[in-house]
Amino acid sequence: MSPQFANERELEKEFEEIFESEEAHYLIAKRAHEYAKLMAYYRCAIMEVETKFKVLNEEFSLRFDRNPIENIKSRLKRPISIRNKLKKYGYPLTMQNIEEHLHDVAGIRVVCSFPSDVYTISEALLSQDDIHLIQMKDYIKNPKPSGYRSLHLIIEIPIFLAKEKRMMKVEIQLRTIAMDCWASLEHQIHYKKDYLFTEEMAKELADCADLSAELDERMEALRKIVRKNPEKDGRIQII
Ligand code: GTP
Ligand code: MG
Repeated sequence: MSPQFANERELEKEFEEIFESEEAHYLIAKRAHEYAKLMAYYRCAIMEVETKFKVLNEEFSLRFDRNPIENIKSRLKRPISIRNKLKKYGYPLTMQNIEEHLHDVAGIRVVCSFPSDVYTISEALLSQDDIHLIQMKDYIKNPKPSGYRSLHLIIEIPIFLAKEKRMMKVEIQLRTIAMDCWASLEHQIHYKKDYLFTEEMAKELADCADLSAELDERMEALRKIVRKNPEKDGRIQII
């Protein structure tokens, strides 16, 4: 590649010298260690919240003989996305800024069976006294213009380390199977940045979201009217 700056060679040399220095290696290693530690804390917070959801699912399945949670997926925000989001907000990449300004480094997606399960599960989680709600966005009652539906919570949860207790933020997205299906497919269709996306296509996607909301409503209505068969007395069968 041909040089772009008059002093490019000198700059490169300066950079190499700095990069080779013991101080630079020390600073890079220190930063990497701090970053790895912070990500480990977020992973612990994810484990805590996931366990809470699993416990709630167990309890509900005992009480009502069905699982309100279909599946749970978790992710840590990738380093490049962390850097880009902080940059977008105008903050330098520091551990303190990550913790203070990003709410979605740790993300959990909980896919529920029916719309009422979304609210039952989120209320049960939020009533626990170690959970602190920071923000709730109800895109089920107020869908996004795209048609996107989900209940978003930003919470804080303590993690207990050997010598300290730390509050960590976690973003939780709760949605039904139908909402998840729409969001996954819309993501595949819409997020290809180099493809043309027309207004008609956006309208078609929003219509599909309405269709999937209707599916949720009808399935929920069916679930509510279904009754136990009186011919089966509910006695536990020993196999
Ligand atoms: P971000 O900067 O993207 O985190 O936006 P935000 O902080 O305003 O949060 P928002 O409430 O918009 O929700 C962000 C997350 O919700 C995204 O990262 C997606 O996972 C999901 N989401 C929001 N809108 C849409 C949408 O129109 N389609 C799909 N597929 N997902 C969406
Ligand atoms: Mg996000």
